[in-house]
Amino acid sequence: MEAKKKKISIIGSTGSIGTQALEVIERLQDKFEIIALAGGSNTDLLKQQAQKFRPKFVYAAKPFSIAGIKTVETLEDICSNKENDIILVAVSGKIGLKPTLTAIENGIDIALANKETLVMAGDIVMKKARENGVKIVPVDSEHCAIHQCIKDISQVEKLIITASGGPFLHKTLEDMKNATVEQALAHPRWHMGKKITVDSATLMNKGLEIIEAHHLFGFDYDKIDVVVHPQSIVHSAIEYVDGSVIAQLGLPSMHIPIQYAITYPERFEGIKSKSFSFADIARLDFEKPDFEKFPCVKLAYAAGKTGGTATVCLNAANEEAVFAFLNGKIKLYNIYEITRTMIARHTVITNPTVEEIFATDESVRMQTREYINEITHS
Ligand SMILES: NC(=O)c1ccc[n+]([C@@H]2O[C@H](COP(=O)([O-])OP(=O)(O)OC[C@H]3O[C@@H](n4cnc5c(N)ncnc54)[C@H](OP(=O)(O)O)[C@@H]3O)[C@@H](O)[C@H]2O)c1
Repeated sequence: MEAKKKKISIIGSTGSIGTQALEVIERLQDKFEIIALAGGSNTDLLKQQAQKFRPKFVYAAKPFSIAGIKTVETLEDICSNKENDIILVAVSGKIGLKPTLTAIENGIDIALANKETLVMAGDIVMKKARENGVKIVPVDSEHCAIHQCIKDISQVEKLIITASGGPFLHKTLEDMKNATVEQALAHPRWHMGKKITVDSATLMNKGLEIIEAHHLFGFDYDKIDVVVHPQSIVHSAIEYVDGSVIAQLGLPSMHIPIQYAITYPERFEGIKSKSFSFADIARLDFEKPDFEKFPCVKLAYAAGKTGGTATVCLNAANEEAVFAFLNGKIKLYNIYEITRTMIARHTVITNPTVEEIFATDESVRMQTREYINEITHS
């Protein structure tokens, strides 16, 4: 008898994670049925994807239609469809939160790429997932690595998250301060969307990942370490109470964690690029992160420890500052200064509701844009 296909929807199918997920699914056609594909403004690509994969539903953030496939009005329409076994949340930024909550409320498992969802509302998302018996399987390579290493979480002493260090790892602080958008987008290891690539240049991405790990695995911040590992072969590790360390290794490819997350708990060959060889890799380097050069990591640790809306503020201010940098309004290093200023001005709400989270997000974004205008016009 033919095995039942897993029914999946991808929100953010036109992005870096989304397109790679479709490459995985193309290899595993007998394992998946696509219920819906959703994108933002790249409707040409969405159309091509829909023609090729024939989902039942499509959604785009701008007006869009395609013959023979139903267009839905919102991402929530997709995420409330209980036909789905799993939804891959691969949009970037704050737009991931609402659809994720909708899917969880409808008992649908999540493959989560969108880290901002947990940074903004990790307590609520994880609580709702537990209440609804929903699995949240991380796509982020570091968290996927930790997920693969953990057998008995009660015996894990700490998490060790690796960071490639981004394009400015061995550049001076001065180089970083004068970095162009092009330099910041030239990540040495990973080809990703622009927002996460800039976050990787400032190491804010690592900061967001620390907060993500805290929520996903329930570890205190002082039990989550970061180590710089430029080759991006060790994707992260855990240390057990007896000092034994288990790490997950692999060639740097997002296909592997994406495939792991959407096929979990099974494993298939799928897109295995080539077999792993320690001899070919020859050396693995590790160093402590330079928090003076990359202060965003410290900012994220502090916001995470404060909790409540502090991480909502961190995420919103950072995202607005990243957009301003990409639009040529500010310098790379200003991202840190702006985010730090907005956090210092923020009055934290502890245990916020979803509504308070969205309201905080809106108001911090507005204040951040005003502040950016002030400093760029003075
Ligand atoms: N890329 C990676 O290797 C990687 C690794 C780990 C984690 N992540 C996380 O995964 C998430 C996605 O990253 P990415 O690099 O794939 O980003 P990306 O390439 O910028 O893709 C973002 C996706 O979101 C869609 N989108 C934007 N606005 C939308 C809207 N209003 N409604 C519906 N869809 C919308 C985009 O559609 P259009 O392009 O059509 O506008 C695109 O499909 C981020 O949270 C990131 O932190 C990424």
